[in-house]
Amino acid sequence: MNSNLPIGVFDSGVGGLTVAKEIMSQLPDETICYFGDTARVPYGNKSQETVIKYSRQIASFLLDQKVKAIVIACNTASAFALETLQREVSVPVIGVVKPGARSAAEVSKNGRIGVIGTEGTVRSGLYGTYIRELRPEVQVFGQACPLFVPLAEEGLCNDEVTMLMARRYLAPLLEQGVDTIVLGCTHYPLLRGVVGHVAGPNVTLVNPAFETAKDLKELLTSRGMCAESGRTPEHRFYVSDGAEQFRAFANSILPCEMIETDAVTVKVFA
Ligand code: DGL
Repeated sequence: MNSNLPIGVFDSGVGGLTVAKEIMSQLPDETICYFGDTARVPYGNKSQETVIKYSRQIASFLLDQKVKAIVIACNTASAFALETLQREVSVPVIGVVKPGARSAAEVSKNGRIGVIGTEGTVRSGLYGTYIRELRPEVQVFGQACPLFVPLAEEGLCNDEVTMLMARRYLAPLLEQGVDTIVLGCTHYPLLRGVVGHVAGPNVTLVNPAFETAKDLKELLTSRGMCAESGRTPEHRFYVSDGAEQFRAFANSILPCEMIETDAVTVKVFA
C-alpha cells in the first residue's frame, strides 16, 4: 500500500468539512479526497436502510479514487452505516460517533451527558450505547435539533434566531443537569459559540470532529500508513450537486488556499 494515497472523507453535504478541517490541521501531510452528497442531503431524517445504501455507493466511489482509509464524517451515517462499511470495505473505516462518545465519557464529572444531533443520530441511541460501554452508570439525554443544520448553512451561526433555537433545544438537557454536551452533528461545531453561551461555563462541549482526527492519526500511525512528512497535499473535493455553493461554503470554513483551485467536480450516482 502506498502511504501517500488519500484519506476518503464523506458526509451528506458540507458539514463534514468541519472534520476535514480537523484532519488538515492534525495531519497536515495527509491528502483528503472529500465527497459531499449535496444532492441527497439531509441524511438526518432518512431511514437507516437509505443511509446505508447511500454510504455504500459513496464508499465504492472513494475506493475507485484509491483511498487508503475512509472517515465517515457524518454523525447520521456513522450511526447507521459504520458497521456495514467496516464489514464490507477493504480499507480501514472510522466514524465520528465512537471518538465523540469516548471523549464525553472521559470529561463528564457528574455522569450526566447530553447529545445533540439529527433525528436519526438521536433515534439510533448510539452515542449512549458507546458511552455506557465505557461508563455504565452514566445517564445520556438525547435532543434532536433539526433547525441547526439549515441555520448553519445559511451562515446564521451567531444570529439571534440561532440563539433562540439553542435556548429551546438545550432547555431539556440543562434541566437534566448535564455537565457535558456532545456536538453530535457535523454542522454543530460551527454553532459552538451560541451553544456554549446558552449552555454556560459549567458545561463542557465535546467536538467529535476533533476527536475523530485524533483517532485517525492513531490508526494511521499504528498501521504504518502515515503519508511522508513535509509533502504538500493536493486535496480533492467532489459533490453530487451544487458545486458552486459547496465551494463558497468550503471557502468560509477551510483555509482558503486549500480550495481555490477548480477541484470541485460533480459526481452523480445513477
Ligand atoms: N452531516 C449530518 C450529520 O452529521 C447532518 C446533516 C444531515 O442531516 O445530513 O448527522
